[in-house]
Amino acid sequence: MVSLARIAEDPDAWRSRLESSDGVPLVFRPLVRTDAERLAGFLAGLSSESRRFSTFDGHDLAAAQELCAAIARYDKLRLVLEEEASARIVGLLEFSLSLPEGDVERYRKAGIRLDEETDCRFGATLADDYQGKGLATLVFPLICDVARRLGKHRIILWGGVLADNPRAIRYYEKNGFQQVGPFTGADGRTSLDMILDLGSSSVFTAPGGEA
Ligand SMILES: CC(C)(COP(=O)(O)OP(=O)(O)OC[C@H]1O[C@@H](n2cnc3c(N)ncnc32)[C@H](O)[C@@H]1OP(=O)(O)O)[C@@H](O)C(=O)NCCC(=O)NCCS
Repeated sequence: MVSLARIAEDPDAWRSRLESSDGVPLVFRPLVRTDAERLAGFLAGLSSESRRFSTFDGHDLAAAQELCAAIARYDKLRLVLEEEASARIVGLLEFSLSLPEGDVERYRKAGIRLDEETDCRFGATLADDYQGKGLATLVFPLICDVARRLGKHRIILWGGVLADNPRAIRYYEKNGFQQVGPFTGADGRTSLDMILDLGSSSVFTAPGGEA
């Protein structure tokens, strides 16, 4: 099983090339410390709607520097999609390897016992001009591969998905996530918990089984 420190030591080993549906060559790779300015460009370029859906702490250089400074220091693994020719960052794919108590409790009530050994959190955000073209679906097998290499068997959504974000809900469902249920966040907004089992088709405890 690979560690976050190991990925940070040799990020090039995790690079993959792919092509958007309109033929733009792209690179998928871990975020590196020297990405701060380009990551700031990505965050600053997000529309107000994308900002609302993705809920980053900030959208300026300081926010980007914080994300870069966090590499291999905490429980997060961030990967980017960048245009190969311009090196413009057009997507941020994020894993968290920790599970907040509130998430564990919500899932427990829904009959799913989360385990930090085998479960992780994930969220995706693309630049507005790259949304709705199948790109996050194209990269999803690589996401699953990263999760497996981290020793994970299941992926839950990081902070859930807002109930009024039908494109993201469709995206996650078409890539195999199952809806677990709605919850109300600290800000009063309704979100949905969703989970993907990387190995089997159902994640719910069998009727009568222990939750
Ligand atoms: C959510 C996101 C990562 C998905 O990536 P993407 O590359 O745009 O997704 P895809 O194009 O692969 O899939 C989107 C699906 O939603 C469908 N869709 C688009 N708008 C929709 C809508 N209003 N209602 C229902 N489905 C919709 C698309 O048709 C497509 O499904 P299909 O292939 O069956 O036709 C991306 O759109 C994004 O970054 N959005 C802004 C940030 C965000 O919402 N992040 C998620 C936070 S949980």
